[in-house]
Amino acid sequence: MSDKLLGDSIQIIEINDTIKQVAPTDISILITGESGVGKEVVANSIHRLSKRYEKPLVVVNCGAIPEGIIESELFGHQKGAFTGAIEERRGYFELADEGTIFLDEIGDMPMATQVKFLRVLETGEFMRVGGTKKIKVDVRIIAATNKELSEEVLDKNFREDLYYRLRSINIFIPPLRERRSDIKLLYNFFIEHYCKANNIEYLGIDEEAFDFIINYNWPGNARELKNFCESIIILNPGKKLTISDVKKYLQTISPEIPRSLPIIFGNSPENKEKDLIFRALLELKSDIIDIKENLGDIRNMKSFINGRSDTDFIIPKKLIMTMTMDEIEKEVLIYLLENNYWNVEKVADILKQTPRNIYRKIKTYNINREDRW
Ligand SMILES: Nc1ncnc2c1ncn2[C@@H]1O[C@H](COP(=O)(O)OP(=O)(O)OP(=O)(O)O)[C@@H](O)[C@H]1O
Ligand SMILES: [Mg+2]
Repeated sequence: MSDKLLGDSIQIIEINDTIKQVAPTDISILITGESGVGKEVVANSIHRLSKRYEKPLVVVNCGAIPEGIIESELFGHQKGAFTGAIEERRGYFELADEGTIFLDEIGDMPMATQVKFLRVLETGEFMRVGGTKKIKVDVRIIAATNKELSEEVLDKNFREDLYYRLRSINIFIPPLRERRSDIKLLYNFFIEHYCKANNIEYLGIDEEAFDFIINYNWPGNARELKNFCESIIILNPGKKLTISDVKKYLQTISPEIPRSLPIIFGNSPENKEKDLIFRALLELKSDIIDIKENLGDIRNMKSFINGRSDTDFIIPKKLIMTMTMDEIEKEVLIYLLENNYWNVEKVADILKQTPRNIYRKIKTYNINREDRW
């Protein structure tokens, strides 16, 4: 797989420029962006282009280490520091000495560990768990998260001082849907890779099918595109890819209602009648799916709810058939906000959510108060 962040969008070109600028220095870096956008690829590139490239790159997933042992994993422990510490152990920071440590999912680092981490960031010094001797290491620190750290700070899950210290060099990788010009390049790269790896000849793709790929939302970003390429290549060897192949694989990722169900009835007249009714129902379902596909993206469709500022909350039946859970959630949220004077705390209370969750959703769904008045 690529050890370079591929893409010809302006955003990726700028990120690659930043990587080249910061890599030779020892400055610590925070990489942010949704899951699957390529944060680990960036961390690897920085290490590879740095003067430390022959030294270790130690990758630590902070979210995967239980809270109780994370300090001893990161900083090591002395013999007898706690039950089970039968011998002294070096932590990841010591293992990464002279190299780079990549702290993935930094937003999941417990508050207590963050204090110790901030000290390492500032002085390069720490003590092993149960130790009394200061240990100094020469480690380049790269951290990454798909969380909104500023919100974690507001929620008191992340230290403010550490946040400001970390974000001084922040590389943000935008989601794939915001840099669609990268899709073609990544598609070609992944297809070529999987064809070579599996000894399969690529026979191309229909234009309509490729347009679908370009316009798809890719919620799982480049990782989803990569997995999609692997499945479609391996499961359709020796054939030019069509729109129905593409839809099949993208549907597996975001499942839809199956169009037909096997129905086998006996030969009695009563069963034949049942059979006919079932077939009629299935055709109806199929028609609904067609309407949904024809309606296309209704994300930008506004004000389709009757009486939004009224006491009733009504979504026409025809529309609800075509809406995703996210779209329904967004409409409910707008309705509640508009009917509660945009009081987020109150809306959070009604929905039994934290205000932070509501703020996050307002941001995710791009709900803008000004647009609405
Ligand atoms: N721009 C890119 N060029 C080449 N490969 C990419 C690119 N972006 C992502 N990939 C590939 O997609 C997969 C996911 O990337 P990566 O693991 O870096 O994502 P991530 O942002 O760290 O995701 P997560 O937050 O879930 O850990 C990897 O196999 C990576 O090689
Ligand atoms: Mg990652």
